[in-house]
Amino acid sequence: MRSDYCGKLNSSHIDQEVELCGWVHRRRDHGGVIFIDLRDREGIAQIVFDPDRADSFAIADSVRNEFVIRITGKVRNRPEGTINPDMPTGEIEILGHTIEVLNKAKTPPFQIDDEHVHDDVKLRYRYVDLRRPLMQNNLRLRSQIVKEMRTFLDDRGFLDIETPMLTKATPEGARDYLVPSRTHPGNFFALPQSPQLFKQLLMMSGLDRYYQIVRCFRDEDLRADRQPEFTQLDIETSFMNEADITGMMEEMIHTLFKKVLNVELPSPFPRMSYAEAMERFGSDRPDLRNPLELVDVSDLMKAVEFKVFSGPANMEDGRVATLHVPGGSTLSRKQIDDYTAYIAQFGARGLAYIKVNNLSAGSEGLQSPILKFLPDDVVTKILERTKAADGDLIFFGADKTKVVNDALGALRNRLGHDLNLLKTEWAPMWVIDFPMFEYNEDEKRWDSLHHPFTAPNSDDIDAIKQNPGKTLSRAYDLVLNGTELGGGSIRIHNSEMQSAVLELLGIGEEEAQEKFGFLLEALGYGCPPHGGIAFGLDRTVMLMAGCDSIREVIAFPKTQSASCLLTSAPSKANSRQLQELGIKLAKSKTPE
Ligand code: AMO
Ligand code: AMP
Repeated sequence: MRSDYCGKLNSSHIDQEVELCGWVHRRRDHGGVIFIDLRDREGIAQIVFDPDRADSFAIADSVRNEFVIRITGKVRNRPEGTINPDMPTGEIEILGHTIEVLNKAKTPPFQIDDEHVHDDVKLRYRYVDLRRPLMQNNLRLRSQIVKEMRTFLDDRGFLDIETPMLTKATPEGARDYLVPSRTHPGNFFALPQSPQLFKQLLMMSGLDRYYQIVRCFRDEDLRADRQPEFTQLDIETSFMNEADITGMMEEMIHTLFKKVLNVELPSPFPRMSYAEAMERFGSDRPDLRNPLELVDVSDLMKAVEFKVFSGPANMEDGRVATLHVPGGSTLSRKQIDDYTAYIAQFGARGLAYIKVNNLSAGSEGLQSPILKFLPDDVVTKILERTKAADGDLIFFGADKTKVVNDALGALRNRLGHDLNLLKTEWAPMWVIDFPMFEYNEDEKRWDSLHHPFTAPNSDDIDAIKQNPGKTLSRAYDLVLNGTELGGGSIRIHNSEMQSAVLELLGIGEEEAQEKFGFLLEALGYGCPPHGGIAFGLDRTVMLMAGCDSIREVIAFPKTQSASCLLTSAPSKANSRQLQELGIKLAKSKTPE
């Protein structure tokens, strides 16, 4: 039906007869001449209809925004003075000969280029929203990224293998989405939180190198970088250690950025232990574009009278840390109050600070609500340790280590953006040496920090049992600009260790058999050492597209409350379906 894409036309097409199809982006009547901006996937071209061709002119006059039309015409230079340098097709226009309305359109719910449309409206009419050039570019970028990932992995002998969607629960730390079975009443499939167990089984089958671009399902609290269904680039290999896997994956990310964005990422990516990341940045996914760092001052606060500081300084799981902000003394009282309120959501009970106005003036040159509580020598040591200079500000956090890290870590990110401190465009890094377990205070038991199939970095089962909190794992995360892009590990490949780890996690033998009996059994039939990683595809595309939310790079995303406004899913099942499934709904107490 067409000879060219609208957006691909330029002065090399002058005098050519073209046939174009697309959407009416805008129609303008300019004193007897009608201009139609015709839009397709590739861009917009300007079509001119003059009254000489009366039939075409009348149709051109009748079309409205978002009508789908087909035109024929001749490409010509735009007259002097009407060239639009901001448009790729801005040097040319098409003198329209014929015009055919392929389909009318109702007045669209919003203008395609209106930037102030409510998110819910955009999601409700997603098919209109996706007509925006930004969204089209994001989806195109996504497709290109996937292609480059596949090429890289295909070239290195990885096989693309599908794993089941109707399966058994895989523990990745979220709730499962369950699917009732009609043929086995009262039984449920779980949609996979990841293909973790199947990809390990594929290694046991000798397939050696596996990858899959695969949908995963997790019923968890949603945020800008979390969707209930999302896509992973999932990878598993045999006979490769941490250095082999992270090295190859780093090369893949390098290649991806080079080919898709023409960006040269730093090489090699810095590596940092989990402990160091928490100590210096209060986070296991630090944004290394941000120069601010936490500095520990617990040792200086043990003997001070100020209980708010000496309390946590003397607690085993307490911490007193500073966040030194160069030039921060210009922050107003109101701004500091706002930051104090901001970190309260992480449990912080206050945000003490010292403003350094004039170092040479001693305590006279400092301004702080806590100066009166701190001896001079402690203040001097704080100033030395943080290397504060005139015009700086030092924030303090004192609490349980987790609260201090969460609060000052988040404040560090916030200040980085508010004060425009980010130094580079891209800061990738590996975080390694994660603890194997973390203690769950609420349930008084150990949880895995990664997942229960991650190998510890020691083979000594007794030592691990004696000191789970000190055991490190063979896991690694790839972090980019403060977002966790991917995570993986070397796996446990012997059944004694796997059973011991499950036992430590409070999963008894019976439960282990019921949940992962098939895996434990398979470990006994010739399992190679193996390991892998999974990248969040949506997050990768989000960062590469420069977007703030993965919703911008998913064609049909869900809302914050995990529903689809376009199709109205989830929706009620009819009584026959429920009956077939043997499901009876409990009467809800509050009518919807
Ligand atoms: P993990 O749970 O770390 O590891 O997930 C891997 C990556 O998937 C992305 N991701 C998400 N993206 C969008 N929405 C979500 N709800 C969401 N949850 C996770 C993140 C994350 O880094 N089986 C292991 C991998 C392995 O060990 O090989 C796993 O799933 O970018
Ligand atoms: P107060 O004596 O409660 O007025 O606190 C004095 C200063 O210490 C105020 O600036 C508070 O914001 C700050 N503050 C209180 N609790 C903490 C805490 N846990 N960590 C850091 N600063 C705190």
